Order: sequence, then C-alpha cells, then structure tokens
Amino acid sequence: MLIHSAGQLLTISGSSQRGHALGDLGIIENGAVLIEDDLIVAVGPSDEMCAIYAGEETLDASGRVVMPGLVDPHTHAVWAGDRAAEFEMRIQGKTYLEIMLAGGGIASTVRKTRSASLDDLLAETRPRLRRMFAHGTTTAEVKSGYGLEIETEIKMLEAILALDAEGPIELAPTFLGAHAIPPEYKVHPHGYTDLICNEMLPAIKEWAVSRRQWAGDRSQSPTTNNQLTDLPFTDVFCETGAFSLEQSRQILETARDLGFPLKIHADEFDNLGGAALAAELGAVSADHLVVTSEEDITALGASSTVAVSLPCTPFGLAEGSYTPAKDFLDANCLLAIATDINPGTAWCESMQFTITLACRYLRLTPAQAIVAATLNAAAAIGRADRIGSLDPGKQADLLILDVPDYRHLGYRIGGNLVQTVIKKGIVYTLYPLPSNS
Ligand code: NIG
Ligand code: FE
Repeated sequence: MLIHSAGQLLTISGSSQRGHALGDLGIIENGAVLIEDDLIVAVGPSDEMCAIYAGEETLDASGRVVMPGLVDPHTHAVWAGDRAAEFEMRIQGKTYLEIMLAGGGIASTVRKTRSASLDDLLAETRPRLRRMFAHGTTTAEVKSGYGLEIETEIKMLEAILALDAEGPIELAPTFLGAHAIPPEYKVHPHGYTDLICNEMLPAIKEWAVSRRQWAGDRSQSPTTNNQLTDLPFTDVFCETGAFSLEQSRQILETARDLGFPLKIHADEFDNLGGAALAAELGAVSADHLVVTSEEDITALGASSTVAVSLPCTPFGLAEGSYTPAKDFLDANCLLAIATDINPGTAWCESMQFTITLACRYLRLTPAQAIVAATLNAAAAIGRADRIGSLDPGKQADLLILDVPDYRHLGYRIGGNLVQTVIKKGIVYTLYPLPSNS
C-alpha cells in the first residue's frame, strides 16, 4: 500500500537523537510511504513514489501530516479500581507522600489489584489501551508493581502479555516488584528487598523463560504480537518512602546479574542518586528526573541511558516542578517523554497531551517533543531498531493526523488529532475523511 500526498511526512530517521540534535523530523513535503505487509519499504516524494509504484493500492493523505506511531515508554496501565477520592484529598492540600504513608496511594491500588482476577484486570485495562491506541500510541511499555508479591506480580505480567497478544497496541513488559514496600513488610522493609532479590527476581526469570518457550511455539502465527523474546525490564522506585539508593542498587545489580535489562524511577520528589546509578549500571532508561542534580545529569549525558521525562505527573499532582529539559539537552542526554499513566498521579492516556505539556513546561519545541515521543521513546524501551521512525525495514506503525502542519501537536490542547492509525500495516480509521470529489 502506498500512502501518498502527505503534506508533511515526518520520517525522523535514525536510531536516536542526542542532546541538541533532538528535533530533526526529516520532513518530506508532499511525501509518500510504501508499506508491504507489516513493514515500511520506501519513503520519498509523492510524484516519484507514485510513478515507481504505480500498481500499488493507494491511500490519499490529502495534505495531512503522516508520522511514526507514538511510543509511550513508561506506563502503569494495568491496575484495578481508581483513586478519585484521593485526587480530591490532594486538591484540598494533602501531599502524595502523606497519602502514601497513611496507607493510601499505591497501597490502595495494591489491595484492589491483589483481589482482582486476571479477567477483571484484562477487562479494566482494555478500554484504557483502546483509548491510548486511538490517541496514536502504537507501542507502550507497561509495568507490574501493584502486586508486591510474586503471585499478583505474575498475574499483572500475564495480563500485559495477554493484552499484547490481543493487540493492536503492542506492549513491552516491566517487572516493578520494587514499586512500594508492601504493608506486610512495613516494619522490616529490608526483608522485602531481600525477598525481591532472593525469590521474586529468580521466579520472574523462570516465568519469563517459560513464556518465551510458549511464544516460540506460537511464532508460526504472523498475526500474533510478539511475546517475550527477551526478559522483561526490571524497574525500581528509588525515592524517599519507597526504596533507598542502597536498596535500589541491591535490586538492580541482582537483576542485571540475572540478565534483566534495567529501568529506574528516580528524582521524582527527592534526589537520591538514582539517575547516576542507572547510568553506572547501563540501565535502558531513568525516568521522572524532576530534581536530578547537575552531577547526575552529567552522568546520564555520558551514558546510553535514556532520560525519560513524565510531565503528566507533576501536572497531575498540581505541582510546579518539571524536568529541566534544557539542562539535560545541554549535557547531551537522550531525552524521551512518556505519560506515566497510573491511577494515582497521572491518569493520562494521551501522548499528544504529554507533548502539549512538554512544549509548555519542558520548553521543548513541537519537533523536539515529537522525536522524544517517537524515536527516543522507542530507544527508551530498547526497540529503536524496529519502531519510532519511518525508515525502510522498520515496522509499519504510522499515524495520519487531521492537520496540515506538525506543530499542531503541542500547539493544541487536550484533543485528538489522529484520523488513522496504521499498526503493523493494518489500517484503523477513526473517522472517514471527506471525499475530495
Ligand atoms: O510513576 N512513582 C511511582 N509510581 C507512579 C505512581 C503510581 C501510583 O501512585 O499508583 C509514578 O508516578
Ligand atoms: Fe511510574
């Protein structure tokens, strides 16, 4: 299929854009892209492409923006229940950490998620994923972390794999057993760190290996989204009231030694040194990064760890501090953005809205925010070799936006500019375009 007459075709080619090189959209005006099955085969100017590929089925973008699918590299999309009452308490003056220390916050979602069946979890999560997809997210990372015990953590990971297999949105799983200290370990939190290292991580690895074999058996079916070709990421919430730097190191080093790729939640409220730890251990990403020290920013800039900013979180908490993105770009960091969708701090299903916030509070240009939400976001989940840009050979994950200029992303607030999502070459039309005749 040849998609032609894109007013602006954003190719964003390459594997990542570092520091102030961020924001190269590789625009082809009046561009076209040829898709074969689930892959991109060629991109170029429409007149040339239409002449070369004259026999192909066509899709007329009629002057609209065509771009890679959005990638959301940090989500907690699987959970049960909601925390609307807590939101109201926060608006009335309680802080996130106060609510958490009083047994609310993550612990309340843990109670609901533990008692939900796998089917309940799937049913609650499906509509969220559907809305994320309708807003242009074609791939998302999803974390466990509302179980804080092996059985429920595996139930969450099973939910992620099942929803990935259902599609059309593709999901990359992360084990976040170190999301909070569970209530039963409040009096001896080190015991929970030991449990994660000595029992949970080995059990998750064993589970993942068994799922990989299962995936291998089913790899004959080309329509099934991929399952576990690698171990899931292991992530830690390195924060006052959650896991100390020392506990985070113990967990991440154990995970690394078992072969897990690593992620970290660092510097959301307090600077404990988690970002530098991520850089030192070769983590794939370090996320949040609101109060990161200059030294830690420098360490990230000298590493291959992607800095993932989550502007919906301070926005959702009605707080005033955001990632100082310019400092990260000055230090030559790889910068990505994500929604952080979760029931506590940021129930945001839209990477478009995240781009809108990133432009205002991180002071990214629309072009920078778009690359941070596509190519660099793909790098933040280790998938930039197959998604995040319109390079021939990459997966055919594309959006047609019902706007004439890419800067409408960022400029416009809270709507949905997506008209068509193409996932692995399959066209999902949200609404038909008026015919030209
Ligand atoms: O990324 N920071 C830790 N985890 C989430 C919040 C999860 C929750 O409150 O349920 C976050 O903001
Ligand atoms: Fe998070």
